[in-house]
Amino acid sequence: MKTRITELFGIRYPIIQGGMHHVGKAELAAAVSNAGGLGVLTALTQPTPADLSREIARTRELTDQPIGVNLTFLPIVNKPDYPGYVRAIIDGGVRAVETAGNNPGQWVDMLKAGGVRVIHKCTTIRHALKAQSLGVDAISLDSWECAGHLGDDDIPHFIHLARAQEELDIPFVASGGVNDGRGLVAALALGAEGVNLGTRFLATREAPAHANVKQAILDATETDTRIIMRPLRNTERVLRNTAVDRIVEKERALGDAVKFEDIAAEVVAVFPRVIIDGEMDAGAWSCGMVVGLINDIPTCQELIDRIMAEARGIINDRLAGLAARTIVA
Ligand SMILES: Cc1cc2nc3c(=O)[nH]c(=O)nc-3n(C[C@H](O)[C@H](O)[C@H](O)COP(=O)(O)O)c2cc1C
Repeated sequence: MKTRITELFGIRYPIIQGGMHHVGKAELAAAVSNAGGLGVLTALTQPTPADLSREIARTRELTDQPIGVNLTFLPIVNKPDYPGYVRAIIDGGVRAVETAGNNPGQWVDMLKAGGVRVIHKCTTIRHALKAQSLGVDAISLDSWECAGHLGDDDIPHFIHLARAQEELDIPFVASGGVNDGRGLVAALALGAEGVNLGTRFLATREAPAHANVKQAILDATETDTRIIMRPLRNTERVLRNTAVDRIVEKERALGDAVKFEDIAAEVVAVFPRVIIDGEMDAGAWSCGMVVGLINDIPTCQELIDRIMAEARGIINDRLAGLAARTIVA
């Protein structure tokens, strides 16, 4: 399948694996890229730029296909060594970066001068237009259903993607809510030129996550995610567990007076405890509503092959059949 996204990144299928803290490591990124998508390492999961360089090299040993790196800009005072991570990306020969979390303006020129294509992940049309004006090559548009930091506008994909098609000149992908060929075709119909998947790739054989995490995804339904940290302007969609129930209760009780310190125990440094150690109630971890559609743990190759076969079937059989039966008055 050819779209401006496949052309931009030199990949066979318009399927991107979004950056995931403590999940976006060499094994997963290489498996996605080998299967024809764009596998993405998560820069900040690596403690230092030198560690990221080593992870890029490790990924290269597992695939000769294009790979990407996610650079998440965090709203914190003690900023990570972003210039060092950008240098590691460019020196490692990586040609695709997914920026997220904040305005990528400061880094776009440096990345582009290094031959890197930039796809910026954002949650509003306003931010997408800003990123376009800064010179990014593509947009990954998060909507209401996505895992992680979904912003505060709560616009679902049906509206958001159509609006993106009306407003943007650069190509965009639908980020969030996609599990299968139905999601891919729907995204294409709404003007997207690809899809970005997080939770679905977490539930694959190669994802370096504890079996408890994958089982929790299999067990959950589409009603099992919760929105937290909205009063702190750090809104996140996570899977419900006892820690999340405590956060929701504190936010209900304290309202806008809730402070970060009130929920720190449930959100600080909990990702490795959940993702690596499998302590499922250790704290809040990102998870999308798509969890309700996930019923198996395939390899990335099986997953991507299945998405593409299903998408082709929907387009060539179901939709072409419906169009053929349309009676023109
Ligand atoms: C466990 C987990 C960790 C994530 N960590 C990050 C991250 O560090 N940076 C980022 O930009 N997005 C992160 N995301 C968001 C994904 O890249 C992607 O945008 C999102 O999962 C799409 O929604 P979906 O899960 O419905 O497919 C994370 C998602 C999950 C499930």
